[in-house]
Amino acid sequence: MERSRGLLLMLIATMAIIHLVQPQNQQEFISLDCGLPLEEMSPYIEPETGLLFSSDHDVIQTGEIGIVEDAVRASLLKPYMRLRYFPEGTRNCYNLSLQKGRKYLIRAWLIYGNYDGRDIKPKFDLFLGPNLWATVDLQEPGKKDTAEEILHTATSNSLQICLVKTGETTPFISSLELRPLGNNSYFTQSGSLKLLGRKYFSESKEYIRYPNDAYDRQWLPRFLQGTTQISTTSDMSNSDVYSAHQKSHLKPQQYPLLLYYLYSYFAEIQDLQADETREFIEVFNGEDFSIPVNPKKLEVTTMNKFYPSTCKGGKCSLQLKRTNRSTLPPLINACEIYRVITFPQSETNEEDVVAIKSIKDTYGLINRITWQGDPCVPQHLMWDGLNCRYKDISTPPRITYLNLSSTGLTGTIAASIQNLTQLEKLDLSNNNLTGELPDFLSNISFINLSENDLNGTVPQTLQRKGVLLHGNARLYHPGSFSKLPSKKIIAAIVASAAFVVILVTALVLFLAHRRKKPAVVEGPQLTRPKELVENKKKRKRFTYIEVLRMTNNFQSVLGKGGFGEVYLGTLYDSEQVAVKVHSGSSTDQGFKQFKAEVDLLLRVHHTNLVNLVGYCDEEDHLALIYEFLPNGDLKEHLSGKHGTPIINWGMRLRIALEAAQGLEYLHTGCTPSMIHRDVKTANILLGEHFQAKLADFGLSRSSPLVGESHVSTVVAGTPGYLDPEYHDTGRLSEKSDVYSFGVVLLEMITNKPVIDETREKSNITQWVMFELNRGEATRIIDPNLGVDYNSASVWNALLLAMSCADRSSTKRPTMSNVVSKLRECLENLRGDPELL
Ligand SMILES: *[C@@H]1O[C@H](CO)[C@@H](O)[C@H](O)[C@H]1NC(C)=O
Ligand SMILES: *[C@@H]1O[C@H](CO)[C@@H](O)[C@H](O)[C@H]1NC(C)=O
Ligand SMILES: *[C@@H]1O[C@H](CO)[C@@H](O)[C@H](O)[C@H]1NC(C)=O
Ligand SMILES: *[C@@H]1O[C@H](CO)[C@@H](O)[C@H](O)[C@H]1NC(C)=O
Ligand SMILES: *[C@@H]1O[C@H](CO)[C@@H](O)[C@H](O)[C@H]1NC(C)=O
Ligand SMILES: *[C@@H]1O[C@H](CO)[C@@H](O)[C@H](O)[C@H]1NC(C)=O
Ligand SMILES: *[C@@H]1O[C@H](CO)[C@@H](O)[C@H](O)[C@H]1NC(C)=O
Ligand SMILES: *[C@@H]1O[C@H](CO)[C@@H](O)[C@H](O)[C@H]1NC(C)=O
Ligand SMILES: *[C@@H]1O[C@H](CO)[C@@H](O)[C@H](O)[C@H]1NC(C)=O
Repeated sequence: MERSRGLLLMLIATMAIIHLVQPQNQQEFISLDCGLPLEEMSPYIEPETGLLFSSDHDVIQTGEIGIVEDAVRASLLKPYMRLRYFPEGTRNCYNLSLQKGRKYLIRAWLIYGNYDGRDIKPKFDLFLGPNLWATVDLQEPGKKDTAEEILHTATSNSLQICLVKTGETTPFISSLELRPLGNNSYFTQSGSLKLLGRKYFSESKEYIRYPNDAYDRQWLPRFLQGTTQISTTSDMSNSDVYSAHQKSHLKPQQYPLLLYYLYSYFAEIQDLQADETREFIEVFNGEDFSIPVNPKKLEVTTMNKFYPSTCKGGKCSLQLKRTNRSTLPPLINACEIYRVITFPQSETNEEDVVAIKSIKDTYGLINRITWQGDPCVPQHLMWDGLNCRYKDISTPPRITYLNLSSTGLTGTIAASIQNLTQLEKLDLSNNNLTGELPDFLSNISFINLSENDLNGTVPQTLQRKGVLLHGNARLYHPGSFSKLPSKKIIAAIVASAAFVVILVTALVLFLAHRRKKPAVVEGPQLTRPKELVENKKKRKRFTYIEVLRMTNNFQSVLGKGGFGEVYLGTLYDSEQVAVKVHSGSSTDQGFKQFKAEVDLLLRVHHTNLVNLVGYCDEEDHLALIYEFLPNGDLKEHLSGKHGTPIINWGMRLRIALEAAQGLEYLHTGCTPSMIHRDVKTANILLGEHFQAKLADFGLSRSSPLVGESHVSTVVAGTPGYLDPEYHDTGRLSEKSDVYSFGVVLLEMITNKPVIDETREKSNITQWVMFELNRGEATRIIDPNLGVDYNSASVWNALLLAMSCADRSSTKRPTMSNVVSKLRECLENLRGDPELL
């Protein structure tokens, strides 16, 4: 039998194999605890490994946080208990900084642990940039969790690791670990190496990783029947690590099949007598390694072939054959098997990527869920609004088409568009773009810029077919009298008497026309005050079954309200809605607030109040169904949660005005009038084009009648926004909302927390007053605004905020005053066009 020919393996269980290189410090490791909330300590040291893990918050903008169920948690190290899952979008990507040309071990941990309580195991894909890395399939029998690992050389200084939804289930990730490897390690002819197995041979049950393996490779123990274990505690030298390439055997070959590399590790740990020899031949998949192995004393020999092998029938085999002159059986310490994985798809042209990213940033398109990962590839995940030219798989695709029509863009035409040098079609129509037409547009054959607010003169090169500019009232088309006259034309025509009458008439008409035009042309648009929304679909009472159906059994959580979670839902198969579901019993406080909110919302209708689409009131089941506002709330935007803190001053002012209009309507526009009682930035929601809507009426009350006043023992509201007078006296009036609104305005101007124990004055109102008194107005204004604090608009808004937040309610303006003051501030802005 084979054994008699010397196939007996001797196993060496030794910690020594892992000292393959000098222990390296983990300075360059990336260890992410995905889903670790920012409030928790990050980074932290995981005690068992000594690895420093940090939250993934800074390297991904999307996803939700989950935690595995209790039973699973007990068996896991801390970094694997939490996870991030991605209910929204098809592709969600991490963006990590690497070093170009460097080889990395990249490992993703995927431990489901029934985090969602639904016990439905996910299946989805992992991509490295535009290329498929692995399909994660936890639905395979017996598979609870998995780790995917690859050895990959970075092709640029950043790496996108993307999770791609491929079916019904939701992608998730527990941890991402990247470890730079030595340059000479794990040589391949081409491609990267996907780990299939990494074993050390031992009867032990312990796995080995950092700090015992300097590269944090994870070695699982394996004991083979019919082998004997010998061991040592001596240290081993590592001079020969990875250097066993037999270069002379390189021959060009085609490898159509799956290809594998084996790395095996040998070291002698016994003292051999003079007449003893240990020598054997390694046979991988039936192919001999041409050089026999003579393991050296306490010195690791790594064996690997210079070219990969195929494994017949998907099974790889390793044999160690004793040679005729050997007196001792073979031994082996450890081995690894990798499959070659190639990443043939080129990423999109790097300059195009930089340019489109810059356009994304310029226009604050942080919420475009498809705008993640590579813009053009894989083709089915191409960013919406783009088109690309693909030549062949190894040529970087180029962006040829950009369509951001009707996306609420403001500001000027982004200069980075000129760096999309292959752009053929550009559609930025129906936005609020201002400024002049840049020269570089002339290189683009089709341009639609209609329905914007551009000004200046149309350059010669853009007076041609394929350039659509109508609906830009301030744009001057030379050679066309029907458009805006400029001073130059006036001068020219005045010189010629024949035309005077025509011109004067035209000019008068123009001026009259211009006066009539609303503010739209020059400033941010205003919504008409007290405009009522037409309720197209009647508010409807839904059954609980319908609520379950519209939320797909409460699949995707948008957030958490005071008394229950808010879920994303879909109504009539198209309209997105937010569904707030009461959790708890019908006897608690929350139930009352819920009822109050239904009653209130059924009565009020205003563009600047979040619209109630329907509700469910069925025994203990209570749910409110609102219109869905895709841009989240103002607080998130100010905090920069979605990237750069939004919005220029003009936009903030408009949001303030719209919120004020909603509040004014509650105070004076509806009967009986209402007091909101919880006005704060977190309750100002933002629609698709950042239109502001006031939400969360759970605490709202009917206003007291004249001469009457609410005196309540339960004072409700949010600390920091709560009217101090109401707090002290329990007397509620509309002026309490005005106070809170003042705080909101201060927050929008300063972008500072409303309560911060670390500053001289913790309360924002007192702090602003304190700084103003010290003459430190510059310290108050949000530096992100980049504005001059002398600007009339900002200054007036600040004074308005301070009068709203006056301690004495009688000195505060009414919301109607506030609305008209904010309009004036917007008017002031016209004098400061750079702030728009
Ligand atoms: C990824 O991060 C790097 C810097 O860390 C940045 O330069 C690059 O633009 C980012 N890429 C994307 C697509 O966000
Ligand atoms: C490894 O190679 C990369 C790229 O060739 C180089 O930048 C880096 O310095 C090398 N590292 C070491 C340790 O030699
Ligand atoms: C080793 O022994 C076998 C038979 O015992 C023989 O066939 C083979 O040629 C020998 N190999 C060498 C290298 O001597
Ligand atoms: C841009 O997209 C809009 C729809 O989003 C479409 O109506 C329009 O035709 C597109 N423009 C071009 C030039 O294809
Ligand atoms: C265009 O690309 C060049 C070179 O990559 C860069 O220097 C320049 O800043 C870019 N221009 C814009 C407007 O992004
Ligand atoms: C240009 O944009 C306007 C506004 O979005 C649209 O009505 C018009 O159809 C577009 N024209 C073409 C040719 O795409
Ligand atoms: C311009 O902005 C206003 C207010 O932000 C918005 O109501 C309007 O729809 C926008 N116009 C376009 C064409 O997007
Ligand atoms: C148009 O493209 C050409 C060639 O790509 C370039 O040299 C030229 O500067 C571009 N013109 C403008 C106005 O950007
Ligand atoms: C265009 O409007 C901006 C302000 O919106 C102004 O600064 C600029 O001077 C105007 N350009 C022309 C040519 O009128």
